[in-house]
Amino acid sequence: MKIAVFGCGYVGLTTAVGLAEMGNEVLGVDINPTRIEMLLAGKAPFFEPGMEEMMKRNLSEGRLSFTLDTPSAIHFGQLVFSAVGTPPKKNHEADLTAVLSVAESFGRFGSQGKIFVNKSTVPVGTSEKIRETIERNAMSSFDYSVVSNPEFLREGTALQDFFHPDRIVIGIEPDDLGVKKSMDKLYRPMIDSGVPIQYTDVRSAEVIKYASNAFLATRISFINELAEFCELSGADIKTVAKGMGLDKRIGNTFLEAGLGFGGSCLPKDLGALIEKGGALGFDFKLLKEVQKINKRQPGRMIQKLKKHLTQLRGKTVAIWGLSFKPKTDDLREAPSLELITSLVKAKCKLKVFDPVSMMNMKNLFVKNPTVLKSLSFSTNPYDALKGAEALLIVTEWDEFRNPDYAKMKSLMSGDILIDGRNLLAPKEAREKGFRYESFGRILLSDNVAPTKNHPTKRNVSGRYHLIVKKNPAVRE
Ligand SMILES: NC(=O)c1ccc[n+]([C@@H]2O[C@H](COP(=O)([O-])OP(=O)(O)OC[C@H]3O[C@@H](n4cnc5c(N)ncnc54)[C@H](O)[C@@H]3O)[C@@H](O)[C@H]2O)c1
Repeated sequence: MKIAVFGCGYVGLTTAVGLAEMGNEVLGVDINPTRIEMLLAGKAPFFEPGMEEMMKRNLSEGRLSFTLDTPSAIHFGQLVFSAVGTPPKKNHEADLTAVLSVAESFGRFGSQGKIFVNKSTVPVGTSEKIRETIERNAMSSFDYSVVSNPEFLREGTALQDFFHPDRIVIGIEPDDLGVKKSMDKLYRPMIDSGVPIQYTDVRSAEVIKYASNAFLATRISFINELAEFCELSGADIKTVAKGMGLDKRIGNTFLEAGLGFGGSCLPKDLGALIEKGGALGFDFKLLKEVQKINKRQPGRMIQKLKKHLTQLRGKTVAIWGLSFKPKTDDLREAPSLELITSLVKAKCKLKVFDPVSMMNMKNLFVKNPTVLKSLSFSTNPYDALKGAEALLIVTEWDEFRNPDYAKMKSLMSGDILIDGRNLLAPKEAREKGFRYESFGRILLSDNVAPTKNHPTKRNVSGRYHLIVKKNPAVRE
């Protein structure tokens, strides 16, 4: 099939490369000339495992190309995908400017039988707006369809998710049988490999995307709230999450306590859903609480730091990890941004390391010299530790999971270790001489330590040894 994909960002490029890999002829379109130049030269504009290799292969085999030329892209594509951004406006509403500009071009340059497939995350009712825009801009009469085909890929595993999604959701008009045939043909390789495909009405497809992200965000805030409770009650959040996750009704994903969720989707989509609810006169009380819990996580990390460093001014703090999650260089809504801004405000000097996001971080703060002046970018994780009073682990990159504690101690001037992703074993970190703080984890031995009211001790085999207080009155 001949396909045009508008937007060559994380979703658009993955879609274009993935569809080309499946044997289609694909033309990726973007409004950013630098991006198109890079893509034509076989360079991915962002870090995504496997992307550059697959893109290069499809470019050289002639199934994939890129252009800035909107009209010829619409002429080319039998299917026209929109994968352009829908960033949040100030009031959190999704900004549909880019999607509607693709719709405008589709109206102006479209022709008989073309299908507009929307992959951008858009609020319920947007398909009607797309149709209105197409019809307002049409220069001639032609039959067309608008399909809602929300995207669920995760950055870091985008290609894997493209080829092996948990499901494909397609919203179509109920009587549009021709479009169903085209979408079945397009996704045949996935359907044949057992991926469920759900045809729905257009509005439900639009809501499925927001509902899924809102639910995932809710799980993370749930476990983070529970982590605070565990800190007070002496239970261990990892153990609790594991026990919960073994229940098939619950499952074990999105139950990791820590600094909370970030990225270009969860915070934005949660905000947009709440805003859309408000516009319809509905108050998403639960989701507002999910937002609040998430926003307080970076502050919780700073509180933990302050427990050990009463004065932050002038202190050197190391940070491991900047991106909102591992295997991506995306910093949008990353908790590191809030943390860095607060620590710089408190006059800390920061030494940071991230395997792939440091250039993006420099570019992001280029207009904020106060922050940039307080940041030093290190070439490896240990370099960041030189002279640091404390280390904050912010992103769960695999390379931070098994650190050389002796080397860390020899480089750091202090011994504070705050694990914002619960990566390390608390007992080991403390035994290696660190004042270790986590999000809701305890040392198992903390649990059985004798207390004033409970003077029970344990013998060498781990059994409780009862100590009876002498009470002569009872004995006699
Ligand atoms: N990033 C993710 O993990 C993810 C996952 C699922 C869904 N989504 C959704 O997919 C959409 C795209 O997200 P993204 O992360 O790929 O965005 P992105 O910011 O990485 O990429 C958007 C691209 O669209 C281009 N663009 C803007 N206007 C254009 C136009 N009129 N014509 C052609 N190109 C145009 C931009 O230059 C940019 O390259 C959003 O709605 C997002 O919510 C994202």
